Amino acid sequence: MSFVSDSDWRKWGRADPYFGVVSFDEFKAARIADNRDRFFQTGRREIAVVMEEIARRFGDVPRERALDFGSGVGRLVLPLAERYGSVLGVDISEAMNAEARLNCGRAGVANVDFAMSDDELSGVAGPFDLVHSYIVLQHIPVERGLALTARMLERLVPGGVAVLHYSLERTLPPARAMVYFLKHHAPLGRNVLNLLQRRRWDAPAMQMNNYPLARILRVFEQQGVGDIAIVPEWQETALTARIYGRKAG
Ligand SMILES: C[S@@+](CC[C@H](N)C(=O)[O-])C[C@H]1O[C@@H](n2cnc3c(N)ncnc32)[C@H](O)[C@@H]1O
Repeated sequence: MSFVSDSDWRKWGRADPYFGVVSFDEFKAARIADNRDRFFQTGRREIAVVMEEIARRFGDVPRERALDFGSGVGRLVLPLAERYGSVLGVDISEAMNAEARLNCGRAGVANVDFAMSDDELSGVAGPFDLVHSYIVLQHIPVERGLALTARMLERLVPGGVAVLHYSLERTLPPARAMVYFLKHHAPLGRNVLNLLQRRRWDAPAMQMNNYPLARILRVFEQQGVGDIAIVPEWQETALTARIYGRKAG
C-alpha cells in the first residue's frame, strides 16, 4: 500500500500548516505566533535568490503575472507579489489557501489570488510570465508531477520564465530508510510509529519523490522551454535542484 500525498497535505493544512511548509520546531502551531516574522523572512530570502538568478541569466523579463504552484501559507507569494503585477497561488489544501489569504490580508497585499489545485490545473487560467514552485513537486508522485510540470509550462507566455524545484536523489541512513518505508508503505506502520513518536495516531507524513533529471528536461523541451540552467541545492539527505528555463519568444 502507499498513501496519497494529497490527503496528507490537507491534514497538514488543517493541523500544522507552517510546520508543514518549513519543518522547524519554531514554526509548529503552538509557537508560530512568536515566530511568524522569521517564517516569512525565510520566504523573502528564497525569492531574492530566485529573482537574482533570473536577472543574471535572462536579464529584464516581463513581470505581469506569476504562478506559485503549491503556495502553502503564502510564504513565497508575498515576496513575489512585490515584484509581479499579480500572483496566483495554487494549493491542494483549502486550509493552506485560507491561511495564505489571511496572511496576505495581514500584510495588506491585494494583488494576489488563490485557487485549488487538481491534476489538470483546471482552476489555473494562464498565461503567466513566471511559473514557480519550490519544495512541492518532491511531495507528488513522479508521473503526476511530470504531467503537472507540462501543464505549468504550457501556461507560460513566450519569453516567460519557469523556476521549478525537484528532488533528484535522496540517501537515507538504513534506520531512517526503514522508518520511511514503514510510514509510507506498511499497513498500520504509520499509526504505530506515530504513537511511538507521541503524535496523534493519524498524524500525516510527508511523501518524498525523486525525479529523473532526463525526464524533467524532456518535458521542458517538449513545451518549448530552453535556456535551461540547473542549480543544485543540497537539503539534508537530498540532492535537489531548481531548474530555470525560458519559453521561446
Ligand atoms: C512544503 S510546502 C511548500 C509551500 C511553499 N511552496 C513554500 O515554500 O512556502 C508544500 C505545499 O505543496 C502543497 N501541495 C502538495 N501537493 C500538491 C498538489 N498536488 N497540488 C498543489 N499543491 C500541492 C501542500 O499543500 C503544501 O502547501
